[in-house]
Amino acid sequence: MTSDPVRLGIAGLGRAFMLTVPAFQADSRIRIVAAAAPRADSRAAFEAQFGGRSYASVDELAADVNLDVIYVATPHQMHADHVIAGLRGGKHVIVDKPLSVSMEDADRMVAAAAETGCHLIVGPSHSFDAPVALARSMIDSGEYGRLRMVQAFNYTDFLYRPRRPEELRTEEGGGVLFSQGIHQIDMVRLLCGGRADRVVAMTGNWDPHRPTEGAYSALLSFIGGAFATITYSGYAHFDSDIWMDGIGELGAPKKATDYGKARSALQGLDAHSEAKLKTTRTFGQGALPTAATQHEHFGPVIALCDRADLRLTPSGVEVFGDQERKFFAAPAERGPRREVIDAVYDAVRHGNVPTQTGAWGRASLEVCHAILKSAESGNPVALSRQCGLYGEETKHE
Ligand SMILES: NC(=O)c1ccc[n+]([C@@H]2O[C@H](COP(=O)([O-])OP(=O)(O)OC[C@H]3O[C@@H](n4cnc5c(N)ncnc54)[C@H](O)[C@@H]3O)[C@@H](O)[C@H]2O)c1
Repeated sequence: MTSDPVRLGIAGLGRAFMLTVPAFQADSRIRIVAAAAPRADSRAAFEAQFGGRSYASVDELAADVNLDVIYVATPHQMHADHVIAGLRGGKHVIVDKPLSVSMEDADRMVAAAAETGCHLIVGPSHSFDAPVALARSMIDSGEYGRLRMVQAFNYTDFLYRPRRPEELRTEEGGGVLFSQGIHQIDMVRLLCGGRADRVVAMTGNWDPHRPTEGAYSALLSFIGGAFATITYSGYAHFDSDIWMDGIGELGAPKKATDYGKARSALQGLDAHSEAKLKTTRTFGQGALPTAATQHEHFGPVIALCDRADLRLTPSGVEVFGDQERKFFAAPAERGPRREVIDAVYDAVRHGNVPTQTGAWGRASLEVCHAILKSAESGNPVALSRQCGLYGEETKHE
């Protein structure tokens, strides 16, 4: 088995690529060799920076024989077509979260991965973060007794960052659930063993100018007995990163002078100008994110076990035991999103299946839909498409 770098093609040179490109560039296991983007200026910027091949369509990218993996970072509603094109072109695929908007699209992607024998990995997602993995291994060790309850919450200005119009329409995957809730769902599923069985939830849709879900609280029960609460506000004025040692989602210290900037930047913009503003944060136009000093995170997470409570921080896990309080550092930050690249490389070069497969992404997506359904009906919603960790597929198929 070769240890050559994985040859990577990028589908979509937008914001997600901007956030992930430092990870690819910092890692000698990855070589960026091609891209697909509809805008000629993005393709030109890509060729200038990477010297690779660029295509106007994902179908052409998928047909490139000199590629091992495609990273799909196009808008949610396009994921299914782009993922399936990549898989059918014989490429392994990493698709940014969420896997898709509809469960039907998720089924099509999972089926295409099975048919082609190519890997389908959903990421980057915060379930890959090293402190989350450390907490999972501490729970696995049994040292702290049974996991009983997890609480995850996050207060951000998500809804007031510049958006494409469809990002504010729930039926097209807009709102906080598909883009942000999916991270919390992934994290709590990872900590609680993956198989949720019931959800009860409420959502908030409170800004008539941005008419989609901007907040939710949900209670999930898991097979095995643990339960989790997840709460998110994308309308927030309070910033819960102050409870994460002042470190932002991408692992860099937050600047106090950035307070309120998201809402200010939207003042007076119509939908068209707002979408245009979003493109100024994409490849070839925007600045790369500030370098991380600690691990990425997705807000405060506390896992309560019989003999200790585990608090996840941007650098590790703080354990509050019966008699003592102790901090366990996660492996030092090796570069942004390195754990995602570990998973891709390990799958492509060694055939190892990570937890965050297509079936895993579909199970998390099922929870998003269940939250919306429970909030609408006022009733608990049963889940049937769940799967466990480490590539264990659903038992319900
Ligand atoms: N993991 C993360 O940190 C993270 C952050 C932001 C977004 N995302 C995810 O990435 C995806 C894209 O979101 P975004 O915020 O980057 O949006 P974006 O609008 O900034 O980027 C999407 C890009 O896709 C391109 N595109 C559109 N149609 C295309 C096509 N047919 N072929 C090739 N490229 C095409 C657009 O030109 C644009 O550059 C979403 O699914 C989102 O959830 C992930």
